[in-house]
Amino acid sequence: MWTAGTLIAGLLSVVILHFLIQLWSSKKYPPGPLRLPLLGSIWRLFIDFSQDSFMKLAKQYGKVYILWAGNLPVVVFSGFETVKEATVNYSEYFDERPQTPFFEALSEKKGIIFSNGHIWKQQRKFGIATMRKLGLGKKGIEHKIEEEALQLVQSFADVKGQPVDPLLLLTNSVTNVICALTFGQRFSIGDEHFLKLRNAIVVLLQGTGTIFQILYDLFPWIMKHLPGPHKEAIAARDFIVSFVMEEIQKRKAHQILHDPQDYIDYYLLQIERSKRDPSSTYSDRNLMQCVGDLFVAGTETTTSTLTWALLLMANYPDIQKKVQKEIEDVFGSSQSFSYQDRKDVPYTNAVICEIQRYRYILLIGLPRQCSKDVNVSGFFIPKGTTVIADFRSALLDPQKWETPQEFNPNHFLDKDGHFVENEAFLPFGAGARVCIGEQLARIELFIFFTRLLRSFTFQPPEGVKKISEEPQVRLVTPPHPYKICAIPRNSGP
Ligand code: HEM
Repeated sequence: MWTAGTLIAGLLSVVILHFLIQLWSSKKYPPGPLRLPLLGSIWRLFIDFSQDSFMKLAKQYGKVYILWAGNLPVVVFSGFETVKEATVNYSEYFDERPQTPFFEALSEKKGIIFSNGHIWKQQRKFGIATMRKLGLGKKGIEHKIEEEALQLVQSFADVKGQPVDPLLLLTNSVTNVICALTFGQRFSIGDEHFLKLRNAIVVLLQGTGTIFQILYDLFPWIMKHLPGPHKEAIAARDFIVSFVMEEIQKRKAHQILHDPQDYIDYYLLQIERSKRDPSSTYSDRNLMQCVGDLFVAGTETTTSTLTWALLLMANYPDIQKKVQKEIEDVFGSSQSFSYQDRKDVPYTNAVICEIQRYRYILLIGLPRQCSKDVNVSGFFIPKGTTVIADFRSALLDPQKWETPQEFNPNHFLDKDGHFVENEAFLPFGAGARVCIGEQLARIELFIFFTRLLRSFTFQPPEGVKKISEEPQVRLVTPPHPYKICAIPRNSGP
């Protein structure tokens, strides 16, 4: 007869045996926190989840370490040299994204961000080529960004120096740039449709990179039925995709394909051109996902960088003054300086890069998947392993930056005040999956930042000495909501 005691002892032995087998099988992987049954080693993130968590793990376990999300091994590369070795030297080994249940729910393996193989290659190549076509010269997207910057300056001017949360104003401008790129039109701030789109992007990103995403990947059959940010994110994605679908239907109804003006136009033309090509992946479904990807990847990233930019200018008034003086000395009252002129303002350029470095807006890189067996820094990484390159750790690497924890524009200047590149400056990632919106984002940051600083001096509201520089910790790491005063300057908009 089995007694309760023997049953418990039996169960315990199975658990211990399982634990020991796990420990044994983990031996071939890089070091990392203790791997527990069921949960793996991500318990470490539950007890310490901050912007520094991943760098603390690297300090304890080395530049290549492992985190187990349940039974799924996730290898993390930390520090500039290791990040570069993996993403640049072994670029083609790490060109896939893992197909986890959550990513699948968000993309159905379509579009650019989460797709792989032939679909990814074709959609990415088309995306880069089309952005180039749309961005060339003053008539292209840069002109649209300048128009948007004028609107933004006006919106700040309307507040008349009173404390204002800049997030909403910046989000509108940046989202409208992506609208101009994809739909060829901007929306007014109060447009209900536009507000819904903007909120859907925020909700989608808030549900990504959270504990709910990890739980969804571990127990999809349960999480699919439970409410939470993961379900809201999936619903938000559905909204974005149907928003884009409506626009596609309108274009199809009007059939204006001969003179493409925006991303959707170019794509529809491409579908038409490749109708007889059996290897073509151009389709309405991929188009919806690609446009959705541009919104998701291109709005909160740039907006968050700009919210940090204004906050840091208010907290470092001497740096702000130097930027304003340089813009005034070099461009005077000219309205027509463009991104191409950034070389003439090395200090301003250095400050923008330093903002991106000092308060990086991604907690960690987007996950990738190893497509072939490979050795990185002496560690064997088997094909199919999920890996993450910690780009934040490269931006804060003490081997590459003089004062990594300080806001110091000199990181990008030589002793004569000339702009200098730093190879560890990788805010847009590196290798096969490097950001395709880098050029667009750089133009936006330059135009919005210079136009705002020319028109206003940013300062904390009365009674506030310094605005908090602590970030919100999720996949994107913006500042906590804050208020700021935009005091008009004489030179005006
Ligand atoms: C300050 C702004 C931005 C930052 C810091 C940023 C950063 C990044 C990073 C780190 C990645 C992942 C790269 C990797 O896996 O190695 C990425 C991917 C991507 N970004 Fe950006 N990004 C920004 C703006 C934009 C904009 C404006 C767009 C487009 C409108 C965009 C579109 C994309 C796309 C489509 C991908 C996926 C690429 C792929 O998987 O092949 N990003 N971005």
